[in-house]
Amino acid sequence: MKRLYYYFIGMMCVLPIQRISAETVEISTPNNTLALFAKPGTSLEFLYYGEKLSDTDLRSFADSQRAWIAGYPVFGMYGPQETALSIIQNDGNATAEFKVQGVEKNDDDISSITTITFEDSAYPVTLKLHYRAYNEVDMIETWSEIVNNGKKPVTLTQYASAYLPIHKGNVWLSSLYGAWGNEGQVETEALTFGMKEIKNKDGVRNTHFSHPEVMFSLDGKPCENTGRVIGAALCYTGNYSLRIDTDFSDYHHFFAGINEDNSAYTLKGGGTFTTPPVALTYSGEGLSGASRNFHKWGRKYKLAHGDTERKILLNSWEGIHMDVNEPELAQMMQDIADMGGELFVMDDGWFGEKYPRKRDDAGLGDWVVDKEKLPNGIESLIETADKIGIKFGLWIEPEMANTNSELYDKHPDWIVKAANRQLVTGRGGTQVVLDLCNPKVQDYVVGIVDNIITKYPGLDYIKWDANMNISNYGSQHLPMSEQSHFAIEWHKGLEKICKRIREKYPEITLQSCASGGGRVNWGFMPYFDEFWTSDNTDALQRIYMQWGTSYFFPAIAMASHISATPNHQTLRTTPLKFRADVAMAGRLGIEMQPKDMTAEEREFCSRALADYKKIRPVVQFGNIYRLLSPFEHKGLASLMYVSDEKEKAVFYWWRTEHFVNEHFPIIPMAGLDPNKNYKVTELTRIDNVPLRVEGKVFSGKYLMTHGLDLPYGHNVDSDKRNSYASRVLYLEQVDGYND
Ligand code: GLA
Repeated sequence: MKRLYYYFIGMMCVLPIQRISAETVEISTPNNTLALFAKPGTSLEFLYYGEKLSDTDLRSFADSQRAWIAGYPVFGMYGPQETALSIIQNDGNATAEFKVQGVEKNDDDISSITTITFEDSAYPVTLKLHYRAYNEVDMIETWSEIVNNGKKPVTLTQYASAYLPIHKGNVWLSSLYGAWGNEGQVETEALTFGMKEIKNKDGVRNTHFSHPEVMFSLDGKPCENTGRVIGAALCYTGNYSLRIDTDFSDYHHFFAGINEDNSAYTLKGGGTFTTPPVALTYSGEGLSGASRNFHKWGRKYKLAHGDTERKILLNSWEGIHMDVNEPELAQMMQDIADMGGELFVMDDGWFGEKYPRKRDDAGLGDWVVDKEKLPNGIESLIETADKIGIKFGLWIEPEMANTNSELYDKHPDWIVKAANRQLVTGRGGTQVVLDLCNPKVQDYVVGIVDNIITKYPGLDYIKWDANMNISNYGSQHLPMSEQSHFAIEWHKGLEKICKRIREKYPEITLQSCASGGGRVNWGFMPYFDEFWTSDNTDALQRIYMQWGTSYFFPAIAMASHISATPNHQTLRTTPLKFRADVAMAGRLGIEMQPKDMTAEEREFCSRALADYKKIRPVVQFGNIYRLLSPFEHKGLASLMYVSDEKEKAVFYWWRTEHFVNEHFPIIPMAGLDPNKNYKVTELTRIDNVPLRVEGKVFSGKYLMTHGLDLPYGHNVDSDKRNSYASRVLYLEQVDGYND
C-alpha cells in the first residue's frame, strides 16, 4: 500500500510526499536504472530497466507500473514459462521456489553492489542475485550464486547468470556470427514468436561462430545513433547460451549464462556455484551509444591496461610463417623500426628440441628454443631489438600439446580425453588440448609463461594462441561421476591460470588469439590487452568484421594489421592505402615481410605510421560513432572516433563496392560539438592534389547535419588507378573562426 508522508512548508501548505516503496530496489548508474521489487517472503519481481528514473518516477513506479513479472524465474512452480534456474533436489524433487530474505548494498570505490538473498521455501538452498552498478559508466553487471546449505548434493540443470524481460513492441536483435576468417558479422532481425538461441559449444574458443553479446533495439530496425538500445555481454570464456523466448506474454524473455547442455552440475553439500556476470547497458543513442558504454566500461574496468596507448607492431606470421631464423628476424626488426614501429612479435615456429616445430604437427608443449633455427637464442633477438630501439614479443599456445612433444611423451594423462575412447586430434593431425581441470596442469601452464618471462626479462609482449576445440569431452583428472562438470571446470582452470599470471606479471602485454578471433569475450579480456580480430587480414572483409566487433569491443583492443597483397586468405589485391586506412581504425600493426615492399610502399607505410601516432589517442581512447554500415550495402562504410572533449576526431570513409556511375550519399558526421569549429586534414594522402576540403574549417553543426562532399576516387597517375578508395580525415578544433 502507498505510504504517504506529509511535508510541511511554512505553516500553511501541506504537500503529500510519496516515499519510494521499501520493497523497490533501485540499481542505478549515471544514466540507467534497473528497478526490482523484492518484498521479503515473496518472489522477486522485475519492475524496470532503461533511462535513469527520477525519484518522482520511482515513487510512483511500484504502485502504478508494476507488471507482475518474475525477476528471475525458476523451474517447477507457477506455470510453463521458460526459466533461469532449475535444481533437482537430493530426494528427486525437481522444483524450486525462492522467497526474498533480504537486500543488502555494499559500496566500493567504483561501484555499488546490491545483493538480493533468497531461500528455497522447502529445501536448504540459498540463491543470491548480485547487481554491480558502476558509478561512472552506464553498466550493471549481474550474476547469480547458488549455495547448497544441506549435507547432500543437489543437481543444477539450469543456471543462467541473468534474466531480463524486454517489453514487446518492435524489438530487434543485433548479434554477431561468423566462422574462422569471417568473424564479427552482424545479424539484425526482428524478434518474432518462438525461441531464439545464440550458443557456443566449442569448449575452448567461444567467438568464431557467434558471440556472447547482443543488443536489443527497442524502437524498430536498429539505428546507429538514435533509438533506445539495451546491450548485454556475458563475461565468460567458455560455452554459453543466450536465449530469447518470445512467448504468449507481453515480454521477450532474455536469459544469459553458461551453456548447460551436457553440463549438469552436482553441487555438494556446503558448496557454492557462482555464475559469470552479464554486463547490461542501456543507451538512448542507438547501437553506437551502447557500444560507447561497453567501450568506456571495458577500457576503464575490464581490459588490461585500458588506459595505456598500444604500440605499433610487426608480427612475423604472414611474413615468414614458421621459417623463423635470426637474420630474417633481425631484418624485420630493423625494417619495422625504420618505418616507425615500436614492437616486433615473433610468431609460431621458434620452439621444440626433440620435436622441433617445423610444421604444425609437432612441438606444442615443449617451450624451449629450437637451437637449429635460433642458435643464439631469444636473448640475442631481444638484444637486437634493444639496440634498434624497439620492444620484442613472442607467440605461445600454452593450453595445447602435440602428440609429437616431450610433454605428451611424459604426461599422456595431462590431456583432454574421454575414458575408454580413442584420442581425437586437431590441427596437424596431432594437436591435443591440455586438461586444465587438473591443478598440476594449471601449474605447468603458469610455469610456461613464468619461465619464459623470467628467462627473457626484456620480453614485452606475448601472443597467446589457442587453436583447437574440445573434440574429446572428458577429463582424465575429474572423477567419472563429475565428467559433466568438465566444460565448466576447464574454464575455471583457465581463469585461475590467467589470474596467477596477471598477479605475477601485471605489466606484460598479452594478446588473446584463438585461430584468429576465437577468444574475443569479456571473460578473457580482463587478463589481456587486446585480441587478434581475425586470421583474415583482407582489408575489404576486415571492414565488415571490425564493424561487428566494434559493437562490443573498443578499437584499442582490436588488433588490425596491414598485410601483403594479394591477401593470403582471400587472394584479393587491394592498394596499400586502402589496407592502411582500414587497419588504422583499430590497433595498428603490420603483418608481412617488409623486405617485399617497394621503396615507395615503405615510404607510404612510414607516413601511415606517423599519421596513426597523431590520431592514436583519439582512436584508442575516443568514442565511436558508426555512421554508415557496410552491411547496408550502400557502396560505402564510414565511422568516426571523437575525443571526450570533442576537440579532436578521426573520420573514416571506405568504398566497399565498385560500379560505374554509382551514387554515394554524403555522410553526416556525429558526436562533434555543433558549436565548435573543426579544421580538416587528410591523412595517408596519395592524391596528386589536395582534397578541396583540405585545411578548411567547418562547424560541428554543418559536419553533423550535412557532412563533407568527398570525391569518389583518387586523383593519382593513371598507372596507379584502381577500383578502391578510402579517406581518413583528422578533425581538430580551431578557435578564432567563430561567426
Ligand atoms: C593461429 C593464429 C595465427 C598464427 C598461427 C600460428 O592460426 O591465429 O595468427 O599465430 O596460429 O600457427
